[in-house]
Order: sequence, then structure tokens, then C-alpha cells
Amino acid sequence: MKMAVIGGTGVYDPSWLSHSVEQEVETPFGVTRVTHGRLDGVDDDVFFMNRHGAGHTVPPHLVNYRANIWALHQLGVKRVVATAAVGSLNVAMAPGTFVLCDQFLDFTKSRAATFHNGGDFGVVHTDMTVPYCPDMRSAIARAGRHAGISTVDGGCYVTTEGPRFETPAEIKAYRLLGGDVVGMTGVPEVVLARELGLCYSTIALVTNYAAGIAADVLTHQEVLDVMAQNVAGLRGVIAGALPRLQHDRLCGCGPDAQQ
Ligand code: HPA
Repeated sequence: MKMAVIGGTGVYDPSWLSHSVEQEVETPFGVTRVTHGRLDGVDDDVFFMNRHGAGHTVPPHLVNYRANIWALHQLGVKRVVATAAVGSLNVAMAPGTFVLCDQFLDFTKSRAATFHNGGDFGVVHTDMTVPYCPDMRSAIARAGRHAGISTVDGGCYVTTEGPRFETPAEIKAYRLLGGDVVGMTGVPEVVLARELGLCYSTIALVTNYAAGIAADVLTHQEVLDVMAQNVAGLRGVIAGALPRLQHDRLCGCGPDAQQ
């Protein structure tokens, strides 16, 4: 089973894979870069992709999500674990908490958010009842327990357009709507993965309380600092989860379940 990790903010280094090789992948949506290598306990290659490009040069609203997800699909990847730095709207999810998202709210505005634009790709309305793979979530939660890192299994990820942070009024509204964490990249990544029948899961690492909940104003440096403190734990959880996910998919995320 080919699996991939999409590294978000603060997760850039593929050195946890051995014998790693970087390649350029051409897709109908543009060119992207993917590293593949070996991970202990996983029989097949594991792929790694930097969501924000080399040196974190691509902001959330300009990430080529379609090229990234298409490239993984083209390489034969079936399961994707994404990492994301997020702010928390939920006082039960303090900075440092790992949240395994199970729902999302979409407040993005200007992104290419589907493969289905008619023509060759057809008119398709993909079911989004279970956007995040439940089997991946439970494997990640088990790997977290094994590593002594507590994860919260379930949480609603609010995706904003960015690149600015939110106003306190927006955060208050998102909280009323049922959001738990807020970030800028969850959508359309999860949607595109579902459209192609990939199993997809997000480990959202809370780096801060969101605007208006935090006592101070928010800075990107604060996000990077908290990510840096937790990145080893995050890698440990992923390295523990992937060997538990090599079995055939029984979760219903596959393409047959999409029609
Ligand atoms: N808002 C949006 N994106 C984020 C935040 C936040 O508070 N923290 C980390 N990424």
C-alpha cells in the first residue's frame, strides 16, 4: 500500500525517510515535487510532499492543491496523512494538542477546489459525509497512545482563505457554527482527496488559541515555535501509524464508494 505524508507548516524535513529520492511530477494541473523513501515497518515506498513548497514559499491561498493531490494519485498513493498547524476555538484543545479532524467547515473563497469541472472529468457531486478516513484516524490515535502523545479523536476544522489571521468576530462566529480548530489549508485538500477516492486524514496540531480567545495578538513566529516544539512527536505518531495502515482498505473511502 503506497502512502503519503503532506507536511504543512513546520513539517518540512523528509529525513525521517531513509533512501529518500526527490522527484518532479507533472500533472494536468501543473508540476509539483514529491520525495519518496523507506520507513521502518512499511513494505512499500512512503511519499512526502511539502504543502508550502521548498522553504515555505507558497502561501495557503496559492498552494496548487490539485497538482499535489493528483500527483499522489498518479504515483499510486492510496492513503494520505496531512499535518496542519491550527488555532483553537475550543478551550478543551489547548496549544500542543493533536486533533484528528472528522469534519470541516469551508470559508475559502478563491481556490480551484474540484477536479470535476464538467468536460472530461464529468459532472460529479462527491459525497462528503465522512470526509476524513475513520480507519486512519483510529490508527493514528492508537499510534499516539503508544507514543505517549494524547490525541483528540474528532474535531471540526474551519478553513479560512487567509493569508491573514481571523478577526475575533469571525472566530466567535465559527465557534457558534461548531468549529473546533481553524487553519488555512484543510480545504480543498481533503475535498480533492475524496474526489479521487484517497483515504485522507489530518493531524491538526494546535499552535495557539485563535484571535480573541488568546490574550495577545497572534504571530506566525508563535505558530512556528509551537510547531518546532512538537514536530518530533508528530513524526513519531505518523511513523507509528503508517505500519498499521498497510492492510486493504475496508473504510469506504475508495473510488467505488464515491459514485
Ligand atoms: N488561524 C488560522 N490559521 C492558523 C492559526 C490561526 O489561529 N494558527 C495556525 N494556523
